[in-house]
Amino acid sequence: MSSLSPIAIRGRFLDITHTVSQADQIAQAVRYIEDGLLITEQGQIKWFGSWEQGQSQLTSDITVEHYPEQLIVPGFIDTHIHFPQTEMVGAFGEQLLEWLNTYTFPTELQFSDKAYADQIAHFFVNELLKNGTTTALVFCTVHPQSVDALFEAATRHHMRLIAGKVMMDRHAPEGLCDTAESAYHDSKALIEKWHGQGRNLYAITPRFAPTSTPEQLEKAGQLKAEYPDVYIHTHLSENKNETAWVKELFPEQKGYLDVYHHYGLTGNRSVFAHCVHLEEDEWDCMHDTDSAIAFCPTSNLFLGSGLFPLKKTWEKQVKVGLGTDIGAGTSFNQLQTLNEAYKVQQLQGDKLSAFESFYHATLGGAKALHLQDKLGNFNVGKEADFVVLNLNATALQTLRQQRAKNIEDALFALFTMGDDRNIQATYIYGQKAYEQKA
Ligand code: GUN
Ligand code: ZN
Repeated sequence: MSSLSPIAIRGRFLDITHTVSQADQIAQAVRYIEDGLLITEQGQIKWFGSWEQGQSQLTSDITVEHYPEQLIVPGFIDTHIHFPQTEMVGAFGEQLLEWLNTYTFPTELQFSDKAYADQIAHFFVNELLKNGTTTALVFCTVHPQSVDALFEAATRHHMRLIAGKVMMDRHAPEGLCDTAESAYHDSKALIEKWHGQGRNLYAITPRFAPTSTPEQLEKAGQLKAEYPDVYIHTHLSENKNETAWVKELFPEQKGYLDVYHHYGLTGNRSVFAHCVHLEEDEWDCMHDTDSAIAFCPTSNLFLGSGLFPLKKTWEKQVKVGLGTDIGAGTSFNQLQTLNEAYKVQQLQGDKLSAFESFYHATLGGAKALHLQDKLGNFNVGKEADFVVLNLNATALQTLRQQRAKNIEDALFALFTMGDDRNIQATYIYGQKAYEQKA
């Protein structure tokens, strides 16, 4: 079937109508339609509202797919994930810097082989779909062919992915290192090939400050200046030994973020994974440059990196999305990610409401990726990426859902107990791309 065929979906819909500047404004922006209708055309939302009002919009060529029991929500957005690390989830015992040397670099070396990269890219994209993730910002490896493999796999589903080749010219095995010059040329060629092709978008991807020389970071900045609408994707302030190392390596800069800022890598399409240990002036720089954070709770807990202060993103008005950070993170699933996000806030004496969680996983994530005009809710004209959720995937969930006080409580129970079993179907660009087998 062509992606251009119109479809109509009837069911229970939940989304957030507009972006907000404070968490307590989210509840007023929640839109819940008990019996709703969504019609797509050319991959986009053509009509959305109540079933009662929408029936007159239906034409005889469209069959209506009805999900009477389920909950239909915008597709989940993963703002930080590594596709080559799919196979290494659950690598035992180390914190960030040792974990990279012991497990990550040997795994990533395999991606010089295009056929291998193809195989894992295919698995990875299916895993995203199976978990209801419809857009992701993705690290590949240093090998340009790893980027080709991923975009080729995503394109088969018309999926909106942002990805890029890792730039890394020191403190890594030889087989994973490029040079300042080759990273520039390889990244430029990939931008020309993939950025804006279909729904694909490119991210200039220096791994993190310790693995790039000042010369390479300068080249990354040069590339960003040449292609202002591509993304910057990197790591920042994840682990205390890492931040201390950056201070040693770049003594002339004020701090870790200032390294990136100095080379022109901050901005409204820049996404920094983790930001667990930011200093006050770094929060201000994130705000002033309109840069975004990817909050990766399962990863921060698994690697023992620390507790991310989510509340501070509202105080400082810094954009934030959720990241799984596979393979330091332990699940592809955004429900499981939210389960851990809630606990990370509990450990800091803060409450993460179900509606705030939902915001971060959908429209807030879209805003973090500067895609709030295209993704994140059911507004007419947006791209039709959405997920059909079964709230009763297990006997325990059914028991709990029967006692849910309202939609917010039902959502909170889903976020606490849910996983891939709750993803009944995933639609990409108005077409069913995944359906759970009965
Ligand atoms: N910092 C630099 N590289 C990585 C990586 O692959 N994973 C995580 N979690 N942090 C990093
Ligand atoms: Zn990462």
